[in-house]
Amino acid sequence: MKTEVISTVRMEDAGTTLGAELIKNGELVAFPTETVYGLGANGMDGEAVDRIFEAKGRPNDNPLILHIAKKNDVTKIWAHTPKLAKTLMDTFWPGPLTMIFNKADEVPYEVTAGLETVAIRMPADKTARLLIQKSGVPIAAPSANRSGRPSPTTAEHVLADMDGRIPLILDGGPCRYGVESTVLSLVGEPTILRPGAITREMLEAVIGPVRLAPSILNPLGEREVAASPGMKYKHYAPDADVHVVEGEPKPAAKRIRALYYDYEAEGRTVAILGTEQTMASYRNLNAYCLGDREDPESLCANLFRLLRDVGAHCDVILAEGVDTKETGLAFMNRLLRAAGFSRETV
Ligand code: TXA
Ligand code: MG
Repeated sequence: MKTEVISTVRMEDAGTTLGAELIKNGELVAFPTETVYGLGANGMDGEAVDRIFEAKGRPNDNPLILHIAKKNDVTKIWAHTPKLAKTLMDTFWPGPLTMIFNKADEVPYEVTAGLETVAIRMPADKTARLLIQKSGVPIAAPSANRSGRPSPTTAEHVLADMDGRIPLILDGGPCRYGVESTVLSLVGEPTILRPGAITREMLEAVIGPVRLAPSILNPLGEREVAASPGMKYKHYAPDADVHVVEGEPKPAAKRIRALYYDYEAEGRTVAILGTEQTMASYRNLNAYCLGDREDPESLCANLFRLLRDVGAHCDVILAEGVDTKETGLAFMNRLLRAAGFSRETV
């Protein structure tokens, strides 16, 4: 299959019209969102949804998110409305917040991986919403990477993973946030299953206490599997091994320099993912800047891109860990998974 790439920066109308035709025909279309690129199919067609799992090589017990174009579209896919939902929708939609509800009968089990709950999100990205609206159905879409790889934040990343596997990629340029949406379960106590740009602090300001799934900063415990199926799989792994050093900037940079020379002495090629606060300590080393520790959104925006691009050209990545407040939590959640929890604190 030949994979066509259409720039929606230049040709949004033509691109989304062709995309919607493909979606209606049961085919797959990769499209930009404000978080990461999605790999979409008609969310009401179980066979079309199966193609997503095939193209990604995704385990079929990992459920997908349904993407909608307007708030009212939820009424066809959720069973009943938790009271908090309307407040959250009015505050954070459209945007990077996915909410989990009991599902309506019409939602195919291919989307929910057999669960009675469904994940729903209304993206902020205009192209994404236009595609959904023209398709006339909710679009089921995971991140558009091969399963286990870092999520794609550019159309080039999608092409690298999906060339020849899907007919169309809509190229809207780099994604604004660079990490996937916050996943909040509203079935039972409000619980964040995956942190994102809508932070725990932001949610609590609106609805009061919100729990964090214990697996967010730790490997998944046995009993949590049912609550967030996606968390049990290997995630975000670049081609290189990743090791995380947490702590204050100065001692962390010192430790990373020492490790760098150790690995080099073993004949391995090393790269450093540092921060604005530490880049001066890595002069003359193979180091890349993630962003500003005081602005964790900047770290999120660059993480997957650097894991992919830098990881393709070295054996080992040494990365700085940061505080887990606000979007620092989303950053550390992705980074620790990319590292397979190889970490130390100085
Ligand atoms: O930002 C995003 O959310 C992107 C863009 C494309 O919208 N999508 C995305 O999808 O990240 P995916 O499939 O890579 O991640 C969906 C996550 C998985 O961890 C999955 O296990 C969880 O949401 N999930 C989906 N439905 C669920 C459900 N019913 N119950 C619990 N977790 C669910
Ligand atoms: Mg994903």
